[in-house]
Amino acid sequence: MGSLKARIVSVGTALPETIRDNFYFEKYLDTSDDWITQRTGIKTRHVWENPPVDANAQLGAKAAERALTKAGITATDVDTIICATFTPDQLMPSTAADIANKLGVKGAFAFDISAACSGFVFGLTMANSLLISGQSKRVLLIGSEVISRSVDWNDRGTCLLFGDGAGAVVLELSNSEAGILSAETYVDGSLGELLKLSLWGEDDHLEMNGKSVYRHAVTLMPEQVRRAMAKAEITIDDVDLLIPHQANARIIEKVGEELGIDPSKVIVNVDKYGNTSSATIPIALEETWEAGRIKENTIIAITALGGGITAGAAIIRF
Ligand code: UT7
Repeated sequence: MGSLKARIVSVGTALPETIRDNFYFEKYLDTSDDWITQRTGIKTRHVWENPPVDANAQLGAKAAERALTKAGITATDVDTIICATFTPDQLMPSTAADIANKLGVKGAFAFDISAACSGFVFGLTMANSLLISGQSKRVLLIGSEVISRSVDWNDRGTCLLFGDGAGAVVLELSNSEAGILSAETYVDGSLGELLKLSLWGEDDHLEMNGKSVYRHAVTLMPEQVRRAMAKAEITIDDVDLLIPHQANARIIEKVGEELGIDPSKVIVNVDKYGNTSSATIPIALEETWEAGRIKENTIIAITALGGGITAGAAIIRF
């Protein structure tokens, strides 16, 4: 018997139908499939064209429904709904409140987390604490983004990097060996200008200093994983799979190299979805699970970096 911790019971995802390849951008921007492929590894991304006003909550609710079905429970079995997003449908009510409504849940503890691409790791850390403290009995954690609404489609430095999508996990308390072994989170607000989405004015689209964010990503993500491993008292040899935030295949490769993990253990799907921010890790988790790569006792390290600058990592035993 292990100590009490939160366990991921199931995962579900949702993606809008439209798939945009790199050639779409070649048509109107000074860019090429070659450049995008070589510098980012991205080939396609899902985009919700003409999204409804509640697109984010719709995507999040769809991913949540899939996770609930896989867990064999209904939405009313959940008492806590956390939505990590930086592209909410509105400032108020929260996306989590709308998702709860769409799922037919009333009375739950429901709120959004704003930690950009680190949102899923921050949410997982929060869910773990809520379950261990006894405040929550079952948590639905969702990462949902409609980033296409927030990019400047004429900025080649950002628009082609991102995609829309959502992923959700159901978490319960576990007293077995399985569960979240450790979690680390990090914020450096002095670096806020590097990646931001303003609310008002002419700059109300996503802006990024790509080179600088890149440099922080390749140092902070390995550092966060090392800290999480130390807390969980494991080494990189104990890690069966690394699921890093999917922003750029070169960043992912570098993070793997820094950690000294075999590339076959590093999950990469940025080629298909681009950067879906808080949704990248649950989307990759579902693909990995569906592919039969997650079994009892499999140890996964997740890590992310995003606007804030935020970063984090967690070690999870299945
Ligand atoms: O999820 C949140 C975290 N976000 C990230 O982790 C993203 C981090 N940053 C990155 O992934 C990379 O920095 C980018 C993909 C954004 C850019 O790649 P890079 O290797 O850092 O390229 P760069 O900005 O240094 O630009 C190299 C060249 C420049 O031309 P010169 O100055 O060498 O002539 C750019 O102007 O590529 C040019 N360039 C492009 N060319 C074609 C920049 N963007 C493009 C483009 N197509 N889309």
